[in-house]
Amino acid sequence: MAEGRTIRLRIARQDGPESPRYWQYFEIPYQPQMNVISALQAVAAHPVTIDGRETTPVVWDCNCLEEVCGACTMLVNGRVRQACTALVDRLLEEQPSEIVLEPMTKFPVVRDLFVDRARMFHSLKRVRAWIAVAGYHDAGEGPRVSPEEQEQAYPLSRCMTCGCCVEACPQFSKIEMSRDAGESPEQYEARKVAAYDEEFLGAAAISQAVLFNTHPTGRLAARERLEAMMGPGGITDCGNAQNCVKVCPKEIPLTRSIAVAGRQTTLYALKRWLLR
Ligand code: SF4
Ligand code: SF4
Ligand code: FES
Repeated sequence: MAEGRTIRLRIARQDGPESPRYWQYFEIPYQPQMNVISALQAVAAHPVTIDGRETTPVVWDCNCLEEVCGACTMLVNGRVRQACTALVDRLLEEQPSEIVLEPMTKFPVVRDLFVDRARMFHSLKRVRAWIAVAGYHDAGEGPRVSPEEQEQAYPLSRCMTCGCCVEACPQFSKIEMSRDAGESPEQYEARKVAAYDEEFLGAAAISQAVLFNTHPTGRLAARERLEAMMGPGGITDCGNAQNCVKVCPKEIPLTRSIAVAGRQTTLYALKRWLLR
């Protein structure tokens, strides 16, 4: 595309969590090597719509700018992906008329393209996706992890909790709720967390549970992770549609993780029944 040309952006706007959604159109100067974040920065520098009306700058989230943090995930031309690695030249090849930006649909919108992914982080808490330490004193060398185990674990460790997999998952539904009159922020938070606990964990959390269950130290909390995956919103809620694995930007073998989690929970349930 020649320099001096302009790019048209169609952006979904929402002034706050409870506000209605509306569209605004912007035209920005084309520059070589732009990505969607630099296009949004051009809008922020001159927040005037295509018909010359001044507006508020578009809000979005980002951090690493190199597809590591997952914060900039949004729908770009209807496809869930990271805005920082969505290159404008490629997008214009696919759809020359405009670039369409919308927030993910499975999370509450904070403002414009910025969503609240707290539910995903809560799913990680539900499955204890970490290695517990008994203290910060020098406990000596940890157990060795074989190269084979490392090879299995590394792809799973690349998850950035971006949300693409749950956005594409038919079993992961948006929870619609808002703060009731007279409800304190703390009460609302507790009600939200209770609602999260009933809903599907999602592929990312299941895959992280598998990752930590295969680690020699993480394995010590395997029972709690398996219990969480067997509870409400656990592994049996997965319909095996495999949409998740198709959209994961880190190419994490999510369906393999789901199959491993399914086997681990079945074995665990059998053992639990035999040892009653
Ligand atoms: S599993 Fe993939 S798509 Fe899902 S949150 Fe992790 S990196 Fe994103
Ligand atoms: S395989 Fe399971 S987690 Fe993945 S998209 Fe399908 S239902 Fe969702
Ligand atoms: S800004 Fe971190 S993934 Fe895009």
